[in-house]
Formats: sequence, structure tokens, C-alpha cells
Amino acid sequence: MTKPRVVVTGRIPEPGLDLLREVADVWAWTSDEVIPTEVRDEQLATADYAVTLLTDRVDQAFLDAAPALRMVANVAVGYNNIDVPACRAGGVTVTNTPGVLTDATADLAMALVLMVTRRLGEGERLIRAGAPWQWGMFMMLGTGLQGRRLGIVGMGAIGVALADRARAFGMEIAYHNRSAVAPEVAERLGAIRLDLDELLSTSDVVSLNCPYSEATHHLIDADALSMMRSDAFLVNTARGPIVDEAALAVALRDGVIAGAALDVFEREPAVEEGLLALDNAVLVPHLGSATIETRTAMATLAARNVVAVISGDDPITPV
Ligand code: DGY
Repeated sequence: MTKPRVVVTGRIPEPGLDLLREVADVWAWTSDEVIPTEVRDEQLATADYAVTLLTDRVDQAFLDAAPALRMVANVAVGYNNIDVPACRAGGVTVTNTPGVLTDATADLAMALVLMVTRRLGEGERLIRAGAPWQWGMFMMLGTGLQGRRLGIVGMGAIGVALADRARAFGMEIAYHNRSAVAPEVAERLGAIRLDLDELLSTSDVVSLNCPYSEATHHLIDADALSMMRSDAFLVNTARGPIVDEAALAVALRDGVIAGAALDVFEREPAVEEGLLALDNAVLVPHLGSATIETRTAMATLAARNVVAVISGDDPITPV
């Protein structure tokens, strides 16, 4: 019997490919560059299954190029790169990789909270520039976290994991979410649920941990930023377009808020020009899930989803 054909459109860790090879003929793009559309489409023409990265746009053109496609397994928890209704209409199952990147992303969000409040990027740049410096009582003072409020927008698994970390730093937790967290979680975290305006106006640090959708496009725009306190910080490890990046650059420049730390960008990999020169902006290149363990777990979960469907089982983590 001929094996089903799996096309992997980006470079993923070998353990994921090994699982796929047990049950399928696998073609995988092996470069870290984004796959050219012509190459992708040539491979999709005979694909039964596709394993995709967040840099792939799985839109109608993608689906048209893959007439036999049964499933798209995205190697990411976020799936805003996928036109899910178009996949559904074409009978294409979509899966993502929830759970396995929760800790890595929460760790990075906490690291960014510390970086931006303690001015670590600025300090690093000072040393690397070879600028003269001397320990001083008032040198590069930051903001302590103890007793400060962390306002989390989007209290899913990553939001809760961040809250657990922030509690260890003595922070108070507030959150904004469509539904309330389980009572035992709220109790453990001492978390209060607020509407967005109240969360923005009362938090010392606002962390974005919600999915990106039409509803969250530019959720943090000039108006939202103006609701934040001038000594407050914004952290985004979710998706870039949740923030109006041009408005953020202006707000940081004009002291509307004290600082921001971004792991994701509105027009990724491009970064708003106005942010680049600002010392109160911490900018890192979408590293939320970037640990060897986590990327391996993401690849193997995506592969296990494909293997499950090939074996006639339900997908493990369907969207
Ligand atoms: C995801 O999985 O959505 C992350 O952004 C990848 O780091």
C-alpha cells in the first residue's frame, strides 16, 4: 500500500520528522529561510498532510495548491497564520501545539518583565558601547516588582503560568479574560478579574497573552496606551498586531508609558523604525518558545497529530 505523503514546509527538529517517517513518505524543507512559494506549491500538489510553521500563510492559495490535503498540523500554539474557516470548508483538519510551550513562553514573558523594569537592555548596551561608567547611587534606577500589579490580558495557560512566576516575585495579579479562571486558580494566585480599561489604568505591568484575531487587532492602540499610567510597562509575547506599534513608539518616546518589552512585532520580522532608538524599548526576536526542549516537543506534538489521523484516530490537539 502506498504511504500517505506529508509535506513539512519548514525546518523542524528531527524527532518530529522521525515520527512522521514511520508512517508516511515525508518531504521536508531543510533551510531556515522561509520556503519559496513555487517550491511549496510544487510539493503541496501531491500532499495528503502538511506540517506548517507560523511563517506559512495557510490561505485559500495554499489550499488550492494542495487538492488532496486532509490536514494541516501547525507547529505553534497560535494559528492566526491559518485561515481556519477556509480549511474547514475544504474538509482540512487543523491542529496546533498547545501546552508544550506554556512554560517556555511564560519564562520569557517573566524575563521581559524583569528586563524592562530593571533596564537590562539599556545596561547591556551601555557596557557594549564601551561608554565610561561608575557605580552610583542613582545610576540606572529601575522599578521593583514587589507589591506591584501585573495585569494579564488573556488568562489562558500561558497567562496563568506567567502569573505563577510573577507571584514568586511578589507581584499582585489582575487579569482580563472572556471567562473567569477556575476558582482554585484565582485563589492560588489571589487574582482579580477586571475589565480592560480598569486593568490598563491600574496595572504597573501589562502583559499581553491573548490570541490574535480580528477582535484583538490593535487592542493596544493610542487610546489604550493613554489609559496606562506613565510609570507602567507593557510586555507582548503574544502576537505583534495586537499592538499598534507606531502608536507604541510615540507613547514610549513621549513618556505616556515608562517602557515596553516586545517578543513579537506587527510586521514581523520588520520592527517599527521609531522603536529602534528608544532605550525604554526591549526588543527580542520572537523567542517565546525558543528552547531546544520546547521546539522538540512542538515538532513531536505536531507529528503525533498527523500520525494519529493517518492511523484513523482523532487528532490530539485540533483547533
Ligand atoms: C506559538 O507557538 O504560537 C509561538 O508564537 C511560537 O513561538
